[in-house]
Amino acid sequence: MRLTDCHNTEHFRRFAKRRLPGPIFHYIDGAADDEVTYRRNTAAFETCDLVPNVLAGVEHIDMSVTVMGQRLELPLFLSPTALQRLFHYDGERAVGSAAAKFGTMFGISSLATVSIEEIGSSISTPKLFQLYVHKDKELTKSMIDRCKEANFEAMALTVDTIVGGNRERDLRTGFTSPPELTLKSLLSFAAHPAWAVNYFLREKIRLPQLEDYVGQGTHISVSVADYFNTMLDQSMDWKAAEAICQYWNKPFVLKGIMSVDDARRAVDIGAAAIMVSNHGGRQLDGSRSPFDQLAEIVDAVGDKVDVICDGGIRRGTHVLKALSLGAKACSGGRFYLYALAAAGQAGVEKALTNLRNEIERDMKLMGCKSIHDLSRNKLRFR
Ligand SMILES: Cc1cc2nc3c(=O)[nH]c(=O)nc-3n(C[C@H](O)[C@H](O)[C@H](O)COP(=O)(O)O)c2cc1C
Repeated sequence: MRLTDCHNTEHFRRFAKRRLPGPIFHYIDGAADDEVTYRRNTAAFETCDLVPNVLAGVEHIDMSVTVMGQRLELPLFLSPTALQRLFHYDGERAVGSAAAKFGTMFGISSLATVSIEEIGSSISTPKLFQLYVHKDKELTKSMIDRCKEANFEAMALTVDTIVGGNRERDLRTGFTSPPELTLKSLLSFAAHPAWAVNYFLREKIRLPQLEDYVGQGTHISVSVADYFNTMLDQSMDWKAAEAICQYWNKPFVLKGIMSVDDARRAVDIGAAAIMVSNHGGRQLDGSRSPFDQLAEIVDAVGDKVDVICDGGIRRGTHVLKALSLGAKACSGGRFYLYALAAAGQAGVEKALTNLRNEIERDMKLMGCKSIHDLSRNKLRFR
């Protein structure tokens, strides 16, 4: 399989499946319980159709948006995801550099494998840090302080992982980070020698945001669910979120808002944006999809905060549909993670090229010269 043969997200998914040991591929690809919500996240976009206008003079179009006070050249950005150097040895370095080439934002996770300081000094595009609130208050504070120092533009507090989701593929494969060296995992590495050579011979996988505070995930192998269940602070509440928002004192985002009530409370505590998200279906299976829930949230708070539609995006038309409903931008994880696993930075750039071309072509076919031309009268639900 070659990069030039990857024309859509599914092609990258198949490529990633070939390159990665099974447990790592299924960690990216899998979701919670029966994965109903995961499938619905993308299927929801098929519940409506775009209604184009023609003869609109679309030679030059503008795809830019402004979210969290940042101008992005694309209405799509790269959501924060954990453990990227496990998928490809360049990890966050590759993803950040690719995002910068396309003038869009990218996020790094609290569980990133490259440090806040390195990303801050090497990546010029708007950067978002995703915060997990740990029981260890000093650890949480240290991450916020490091982001201030490194001039991150925005901070997203993830609020949908108060406990770990039931990711049964990970239970079946025994996925941990760092991977445990068992007979089964060694056999799976041997079947993917290119990945294994890089994993064993290149810079060791680290969690630089955590390693001064915890052994888990750094030198002690742990499943992601165990990490959430033992390390994160389940007493986190609105007061805590408000305190973090004030302490951060720059654009603040709540990631994982799904209800209108919570969206209103996000406005009350001073959030600049909300990411309507169910963590890519990896947490509460049976919960509603971001696209299904978007209209009521936009109607309630769309004039007060930037509403982002996060998850399920696989096509340019998905982005156009979400923007037509009133989202300010879209974001996603797997669309670039499969590409990262397939071919590192070149892979992420190809995935972004494909999606940028789709958004541009689809806007022209819709008769839209700018994102402002997309509105609900461009959509009909079936
Ligand atoms: C492998 C993987 C790791 C993720 N890690 C994190 C994380 O550390 N923090 C976080 O807030 N969200 C994390 N997410 C969720 C993404 O930020 C995003 O919400 C989700 O991927 C959107 O769904 P999509 O993959 O269908 O685009 C992760 C998602 C995946 C697939």
